[in-house]
Amino acid sequence: QHCFTKSPDGFLYCEDTKVQDIMEKVEKRPFYLYSKPQITRNVEAYKEALEGLKNSIIGYAIKANNNLKILQHLRKLGCGAVLVSGNELKLALHAGFDPTKGRTIYTVLSPVGLLSPDSVESLTGFTKWELSPTMPKCIFNGNGKILEDLILAAQEGVFVNVDSEFDLENIVTAAKVAGRKVNVLLRINPDVDPQVHPYVATGNKNSKFGIRNEKLQWFLDAVKAHPNELKLVGAHCHLGSTITKVDIFRDAAVLMVNYIDEIRAQGFEVDYLNIGGGLGIDYYHSGAVLPTPRDLIDTVRELVLSRNLNLVIEPGRSLIANTCCLVNRVTGVKTNGTKNFIVIDGSMAELIRPSLYDAYQHIELVSPTPPDAEVSTFDVVGPVCESADFLGKERELQTPAKGTGLVVHDAGAYCMSMASTYNLKMRPPEYWVEEDGSVTRIRHGETFEDHIRFFEGL
Ligand code: LLP
Repeated sequence: QHCFTKSPDGFLYCEDTKVQDIMEKVEKRPFYLYSKPQITRNVEAYKEALEGLKNSIIGYAIKANNNLKILQHLRKLGCGAVLVSGNELKLALHAGFDPTKGRTIYTVLSPVGLLSPDSVESLTGFTKWELSPTMPKCIFNGNGKILEDLILAAQEGVFVNVDSEFDLENIVTAAKVAGRKVNVLLRINPDVDPQVHPYVATGNKNSKFGIRNEKLQWFLDAVKAHPNELKLVGAHCHLGSTITKVDIFRDAAVLMVNYIDEIRAQGFEVDYLNIGGGLGIDYYHSGAVLPTPRDLIDTVRELVLSRNLNLVIEPGRSLIANTCCLVNRVTGVKTNGTKNFIVIDGSMAELIRPSLYDAYQHIELVSPTPPDAEVSTFDVVGPVCESADFLGKERELQTPAKGTGLVVHDAGAYCMSMASTYNLKMRPPEYWVEEDGSVTRIRHGETFEDHIRFFEGL
């Protein structure tokens, strides 16, 4: 079941609500529209996939989407948080994530749906998915973590992934300042080609992320030299993003458990294998069969069990991308030379992935055009003063009238969180459709007044 569907009469729906009706109710500007039930369904898919793997952690990569309401919802569903800055850590705390202790999360798999932990305790005969009550649930990643943020992470008891020699030194300093031992994982660059756009590949040889495996011994010795500051708890890798072959994860996991064997052979008690995020989604809406969370987990399951490890995954895109679209209005249609353009009010400022990665995101009109409307090939572009300002190229669409709604799909991940205010296109508001069909604003849109505020008193 997917949240966005076209009715036979040509209207786009988000769950059971007509997108056109929502457009009439909300502000007349581009906005992000999410389905809250779809977010739940995506988390459930991971939880079901992780059944049988005790003490696993779904570490949601906050960078993909940092809407506070969404974070609160993900937290309630049992996700942990993967952070790349002190501010992301502060936001996770604000959203109620417990950085050190996991709560026991039970999900009763249908037909009852989600139940609170209390009510589930008394039930029997259901499959339960469980996080250890002592499991840390926030993980701090990054190749350039600054000392101030590491101190906060140390104070809060967050797991920290070690990325380099200087990072390790900083973590030691942070532990001393905080007066607390830091649980660390070594981020090993497994040198596996994720077969994705170079800008979103991270686990290959020349990447700026992680440590080279030849240097593993140096890091193990450094951890041994700081028994009061560091406790090595596991190994981490992250291969890249938009990965559509699970074999790639398996190849990396094979290497990683070998490293874990090596690490354990030196007397370290490491329990966590963190295989990062990176599972791709069907941006093309082509109906192609792409790996699911279950396929991903199943491909590493035996390896994880064979070493009695706790599996950590760090999904961003595959949890949140398909729950949302950017809703725009058509400003007009024009033809230059041999090119046809649909000009919309949204742009690369609200959604930069096509401009930055040449990414394909599916585009649809929200309402039926007159039956005689001509079908043409259009570039869908925004009003921003850049030729890179396009949302889609060479799309077959019916010629829309001015004001028609046009959506860019799969906009839940790395769209709002990468939005800018270029050309003073202020960042858009966000709404979601709730389980009961009501539409709620979950973030205010930025305004011109917000911009002026930065200069007050100067
Ligand atoms: N863990 C680490 C260490 C990461 O660097 C990332 C993403 C994730 C987890 C989550 O990966 P995901 O499951 O979302 O693929 N802006 C780009 C994507 C950049 C990904 C950065 N790292 C895009 O729009 O495609």
